[in-house]
Amino acid sequence: MKILVIGSGGREHALGWKLRQSPLVSELISAPGNPGLAELGRCVPVKADDAAELSAFAMREQIDLVVVGPEAALAAGVADRLAQIGIPCFGPSQAAAELEASKAFTKDFCARHNIPTADYKVFDDAIYAKAYLGEREPPFVIKADGLAAGKGVVIAETRREADAAIDEILFLRKFGTAGQRIVIEDFMPGEEASFFALCDGETAIPLAAAQDHKRAYDGDKGPNTGGMGAYSPAPVFTDAARDQVMEQIIMPTVRGMKAEGRPFKGVLFAGLMITPNGPKLIEYNVRFGDPECQTLMRRLKSDFLPTLLAAAQGDLARAAPLEWDARPAVTVVYAANGYPDEPLTGSVIRGLEEAAQVKEVVIFHAGTKRDEEGLLRAAGGRVLNVTALGDTLRDAVTRAYAAVNAIDWPGGFCRTDIAWRALD
Ligand code: AMP
Ligand code: GLY
Repeated sequence: MKILVIGSGGREHALGWKLRQSPLVSELISAPGNPGLAELGRCVPVKADDAAELSAFAMREQIDLVVVGPEAALAAGVADRLAQIGIPCFGPSQAAAELEASKAFTKDFCARHNIPTADYKVFDDAIYAKAYLGEREPPFVIKADGLAAGKGVVIAETRREADAAIDEILFLRKFGTAGQRIVIEDFMPGEEASFFALCDGETAIPLAAAQDHKRAYDGDKGPNTGGMGAYSPAPVFTDAARDQVMEQIIMPTVRGMKAEGRPFKGVLFAGLMITPNGPKLIEYNVRFGDPECQTLMRRLKSDFLPTLLAAAQGDLARAAPLEWDARPAVTVVYAANGYPDEPLTGSVIRGLEEAAQVKEVVIFHAGTKRDEEGLLRAAGGRVLNVTALGDTLRDAVTRAYAAVNAIDWPGGFCRTDIAWRALD
């Protein structure tokens, strides 16, 4: 089979790395790909959100399965275009991707289908929004409705801070049109976990859970990022929690989306709060988490290709069960100095081959490029994802940092405390 992976980050490198191991794969192509993916097959210079060009390419090359990494490609309708020309695509339609693109849609959907999440209200008028705060208890959670690169959420301790957040989003349009509406919801106490399930429009199967670190610096301090590191499994996420989430959150979502005429195919990424009253949904994403995906791919023992194909073709009920390595995996994100505000790109990275010699370590490329001389250089914010398996989580962490230390890259930094909560 010829596989096309869409995207250019560490998540896509990890998916490509896993799929390339399948005996069913004859060729792995990525668009636009990165130097890591280039070691696994051809990279073509088509942007991940250029739906027209991607589907034309898939047709020309007679691709057997397209695997979409980033949400931008899904929001641009890549899956819809591929459906029109009959090419199987792992990833939801534009209409089903609303689960990530609109928080108001998702909250209303949860209300319609009795899915446990925080109480909320949607507003487009600041006066009514501020009045609503008077009926609730702090801390207040204020969210821009649309896609805001993970930055559209404010947790306000006081009415004054909450008022300011409402004004910034609705009046000052801090997040542009993503802030035409806001969601105000109750604060949920607890520990967070990311859970992933594969869906084929009719049914769903659980993958595994992971936890990531969103803040830039040690001790969970500093600005929010796309994620500075992750580990899987997530100790807070017990088998009982998984069963409860499948029954109360994932399956009602799959049935509800089908009933509402937007069947969901692809991976549902449930951001969960493990509260004293059980797991509740914080938000949905319609793609794999990055860097959570890297830890999952490192732990997955089965061939992933038949399962992704089954999800794309509505055939998951017949897919063979997936087998996971019981050993924990950890990913440390090595980011360019200045990330997340102004990452400094262009610096030279050396020593990856030596670093990859550390036992059970795989290094995924997230934001790199090769220059004309073949030197590897930083080309993004999150640049490398150093991923290790260990007999214990401590073991995995030790190996990942041993590999980090073997990389010669003065232009980068990483957190030194990935997985601290689970190690405590
Ligand atoms: P979101 O973009 O919706 O995932 O929100 C970003 C982050 O804000 C989450 O990862 C949580 O840490 C926090 N958060 C969002 N909603 C809530 C809530 N209702 N209660 C507590 N924390 C929340
Ligand atoms: N690591 C969180 C995300 O991919 O959204």
